[in-house]
Amino acid sequence: MAEDTLTITDNRTGHEYTLPITDGTIRATDLQQIRAEDDTDGLMAYDPAYLNTASCRSAITYIDGDAGILRYRGYPIEQLAEDATFLETAFLLLEGELPNAEQLHRWEEDVRYHTYVHTNVQKFLEGFRYDAHPMGMLLGAVGALSTFYPDAKDIDDPDGRYLQRVRLMAKLPTIAAYVFRHAHGLPYVLPRNDLDYIGNFVNMTFEIGGRHEPNPVLQRALEILFVLHADHEQNCSTSAVRGVGSSHVDPFSAVSAGIAALYGPLHGGANEAVLRMLDQIGVKENVPGFIEQVKDGKGRLMGFGHRVYKSYDPRAKLIKRVADDVFEQTGLNPKLEIALELERIALEDEYFVSRRLYPNVDFYSGLIYQAMGYPTDYFTVLFALGRLPGWIAQWEEMLGDPEQKISRPRQVYVGDPERPYVPRSERG
Ligand code: CMC
Repeated sequence: MAEDTLTITDNRTGHEYTLPITDGTIRATDLQQIRAEDDTDGLMAYDPAYLNTASCRSAITYIDGDAGILRYRGYPIEQLAEDATFLETAFLLLEGELPNAEQLHRWEEDVRYHTYVHTNVQKFLEGFRYDAHPMGMLLGAVGALSTFYPDAKDIDDPDGRYLQRVRLMAKLPTIAAYVFRHAHGLPYVLPRNDLDYIGNFVNMTFEIGGRHEPNPVLQRALEILFVLHADHEQNCSTSAVRGVGSSHVDPFSAVSAGIAALYGPLHGGANEAVLRMLDQIGVKENVPGFIEQVKDGKGRLMGFGHRVYKSYDPRAKLIKRVADDVFEQTGLNPKLEIALELERIALEDEYFVSRRLYPNVDFYSGLIYQAMGYPTDYFTVLFALGRLPGWIAQWEEMLGDPEQKISRPRQVYVGDPERPYVPRSERG
């Protein structure tokens, strides 16, 4: 049996080094011992965008991108999507085990108890323009929560962390619903603690004049979407939460950094971008022309491609099933025809096949959210609600990991060498 080591010869010096391999990785800091004669820092690994760098050891989510496998704490996403509630999934991610009946009851009650936000949060939200983007409002409001809960700075206290975890889970739907109502010019609807997590959120968004007829199929569909989004290991927003959290800031500030990262069109903002793309395409007949433009480098096929999944995104598969349930209730979304045609052509086209580009989680989710009555610029807020437990679980895991320090990458300096300051009067 070969030893778990890597032997490197530095051809600059002729020296040979043997580095241990653990869990399929070498430690980047082990490279520091490899030095050329005039080199004081030692060898570094250069990896912009972290294409091949593990930044942590994590026990939360497992992905096999080639096989299209996603598991939370070992449980296949397909089984969780079938049977688990969102709060149950959140408990699993946060605590590491599925809750028993008593644990689940306590968790649900704790979250229920904290659903109200300080009335000043409402006033704060009212300060936004009528057409403010919901994600900008959400990230601002969540960051502002840290000023309402200064006790959240005590990140070393496990009871305190539990309280902030509950507050975040409880208040994010309330804030998200207020953001929705603000955009519609509607008065805020207070949380109703007789409803479950999803039911309360849907009621806060859609209740008019004290009335809202809940549709259990649509509510379960929304719940499944939240479960599918709940964690995705070291994605851009989670890395942002970990990176910002590594400075030991409070969790509200760290999560608002995650929301900011999610906002971008290459990440969670893709669900919004997909709908805008479908609007731009307009009719099914325009699909081949649009695909050609993408292949010519004029834009991307939004909702396609993934850094990790290279055969298919298992969430996209499940979402298609959810879409069937939803459209049975709401009638077909007219844009579905265009989306299906895009998928059909792209899955056969050499450009997409050779680059292993498949529909991702965002390709169909926007169509579902739209059918449920949520406006396009609100879709990423729904993604944020789903991703929250993952962000908190990863943040807490990072804090408890003795190997983690403040996140601080190195760089390769490519700028000018030292040069003397030129007085303003002498500059050309
Ligand atoms: N449409 C057309 N070409 C694409 C696409 C796409 N959606 N995605 C990647 N490519 C091409 C890209 O141009 C490149 O081609 P070439 O080798 O000729 O230069 C090749 O495929 C590899 O792309 P990359 O940018 O190096 O891949 P990446 O791993 O850095 O990017 C991605 C992953 C998800 C950002 C990218 O696929 C993308 O921009 N997709 C569209 C946006 C999207 O749907 N994002 C949601 C991701 S899933 C949920 C989430 O994270 O929120």
